Amino acid sequence: MKEILVVYYSQTGQLFDILRNVVSTIVDNQMNVTYHQLVPKTGYDFPWKKDKFFDVFPESFLQIPCELEEPNAELFDKKYDLVLLGHQVWFLTPSIPLNSFLKSEAAKKLLKNTPVVTVIGARNMWIQAQEKLKKLLLACDAKLVGNIALVDRHLNHISVITITHWMFGGKKDKMYGVFPKPGVSEKDIRGASKFGFPIKEALMANNFSSLQNALLELDAVRIKPFLSLADKRANLLFSKWANLIIKKGGHGDSKRKKWLVFFNYYLLLAIWVIAPIVFIVFLLTYPIMMNSISREKKYFSSVTTTKD
Ligand SMILES: Cc1cc2nc3c(=O)[nH]c(=O)nc-3n(C[C@H](O)[C@H](O)[C@H](O)COP(=O)(O)O)c2cc1C
Repeated sequence: MKEILVVYYSQTGQLFDILRNVVSTIVDNQMNVTYHQLVPKTGYDFPWKKDKFFDVFPESFLQIPCELEEPNAELFDKKYDLVLLGHQVWFLTPSIPLNSFLKSEAAKKLLKNTPVVTVIGARNMWIQAQEKLKKLLLACDAKLVGNIALVDRHLNHISVITITHWMFGGKKDKMYGVFPKPGVSEKDIRGASKFGFPIKEALMANNFSSLQNALLELDAVRIKPFLSLADKRANLLFSKWANLIIKKGGHGDSKRKKWLVFFNYYLLLAIWVIAPIVFIVFLLTYPIMMNSISREKKYFSSVTTTKD
């Protein structure tokens, strides 16, 4: 009997649906699946109020954990053969509930010397968040053996508009009836079941060495070089903003609120003015950057933790 643990936090249910579909093709009478939902002691309301959405930015980005409900004691009775870890990104960083779990004693016990497959459900900027997650997994002595990254495949700017409609309005539907649906498409969510087959094969053989290549053949990860560049640059700037805002006070402090409004305006400027300019520069320099872009593509598609 193989024991699989699925750890997840999912506000809208999108990531949970993806995970459930992956699991659907792994389960049989030789597999026992345990789900562990991460529950913050103080929950995050959905749909988001705009000020609450921005208020989680400093703690998300600086990876400051929140308190989680203690897992049931029975969770620790088993040694798991594989952990599927649901990963959603908040402000280019693993979400606060996920980060909090990975920094907990519970994670250290559950993940130690255990193969982990990360399953991402994000808008489209997840690469640097996954790099941060790799470090958190290393600190738990876990072994990352696979990664599946499902994203909104529409144009970046379209996905910004539609995710705002979803997060603040609460419905994953077509804004004004004309925009595409936000988030990961129904087709990709349903299609996630295909990833279960190679995972099961690796699990049965107890050999995960070629799992990521098998997942890549199934289109588990697509690296878009411009988004990767934007993610890296935005991380540098977010770091300055987060460190500045955290010093302005705790939740509800008026100074902090004022600076979060400035950050909101900065984000709008970055997305609608700066990013298109950087995109033009990116296109112009593409020919001379080709080698390093293809090296990065290979690395970010892999589950290796250091660049070669
Ligand atoms: C506060 C917040 C920040 C987010 N930041 C990002 C981001 O930086 N990159 C990204 O690709 N998606 C981002 N998303 C989208 C989430 O990764 C995720 O796809 C969405 O919240 C649905 O996940 P769920 O399964 O938890 O409902 C963000 C969502 C929230 C709520």
